Amino acid sequence: MKSFSIKPTIKMMDTVAELCEEYKIGEGDLLFVSQSTFDKYFQGKVTGATVVNYRKFGSGEPTDLMVEGIYESIKDVDYKRVFAVGGGTILDVAKLFALKNISPVVDLYDKKLEIAKTKELILVPTTCGTGSEVTNISILELTTKGTKFGLAVEELYADDAVLVPELLMGLPFKFFATSSIDALIHSIESYTSPKANEFTRMYSKTAMKMILEAYKIIARDGEDARLPLMKELLLASTYAGIAFGNAGCAAVHAMSYPLGAKYHVPHGEANYAFFTGVYKTYQSINPDGSIVELNSYLAEILGCAADEVYEKIEDLLNHIIVKKSLHEYGMTQEDIEDFTETVMTKQGRLMANNYVELSSEVVKQIYAALF
Ligand SMILES: [Fe+2]
Repeated sequence: MKSFSIKPTIKMMDTVAELCEEYKIGEGDLLFVSQSTFDKYFQGKVTGATVVNYRKFGSGEPTDLMVEGIYESIKDVDYKRVFAVGGGTILDVAKLFALKNISPVVDLYDKKLEIAKTKELILVPTTCGTGSEVTNISILELTTKGTKFGLAVEELYADDAVLVPELLMGLPFKFFATSSIDALIHSIESYTSPKANEFTRMYSKTAMKMILEAYKIIARDGEDARLPLMKELLLASTYAGIAFGNAGCAAVHAMSYPLGAKYHVPHGEANYAFFTGVYKTYQSINPDGSIVELNSYLAEILGCAADEVYEKIEDLLNHIIVKKSLHEYGMTQEDIEDFTETVMTKQGRLMANNYVELSSEVVKQIYAALF
């Protein structure tokens, strides 16, 4: 059996003023937002809400320590709704605060705590990448375990996902690049997942086309050409979120997690480091499955032959982020063994969605080839 659902109600608004008017954010609300986004968009529009500036609790991508720090600071606050306005980090962390039990967060991820949603959750993305606003997944680096883990349960779905293109207009190119590449990879990994179906593939294909067409324009006209496309790209990242929220991500994400956790490589960039390596391997193991349709669809968009898509896609993506070898991020030869072990033993949730089964020997070979 295959299934497909979109749980949050998706709302689209042009401006933050409209968002504040619609929800009357204030007393009894927990508002996760960075200081700069608050100052730029929310100053004077919300009164009485408890504002959580997650950056006070740690830098980089989300960790268990960040969640514990925030929990300590708000545990006596009485709130009914959780609003999160931000990138994947903020949204993923905020999702946990709609639950009845949050701490110790490591126990929550090990499912040793009762998982119950007791607050309303409203997610508002400010990047065009994670799709977190429509998924039931929260990704955290568990510092004691040295890698990133995903908690995926029904209770983490938002009630509302609100798309406000105005919030993306100030997104610096670097963050645009890593987040949109992440969304592209969501659309591609979910397309070849064994859980994919006609519905998820429709969202995957639309997202891939929108993102790659935008990259073609940026490659031709330069970085600023992205600005009129931000609404499209926000939609594309949400479509990709719907696709992978149902069909799942796979080895590209699984293999990037140990690198991202140990060497603090931005999520989308870490994914890009593995993307073509994993897909070339899939292709060599089974050239006859859903990868055939994927390659011919990508070839059509890229204007090349189906057997050239991975080279062509790299040429195009290199206008957005330059691909690096893994050692350039600080990875060592010894890490190859350790990362392989981590992927094979701790990323089963993702590795179950691989296009073909990848043995530990093959995973090690991919790390070595990209090293
Ligand atoms: Fe991702």
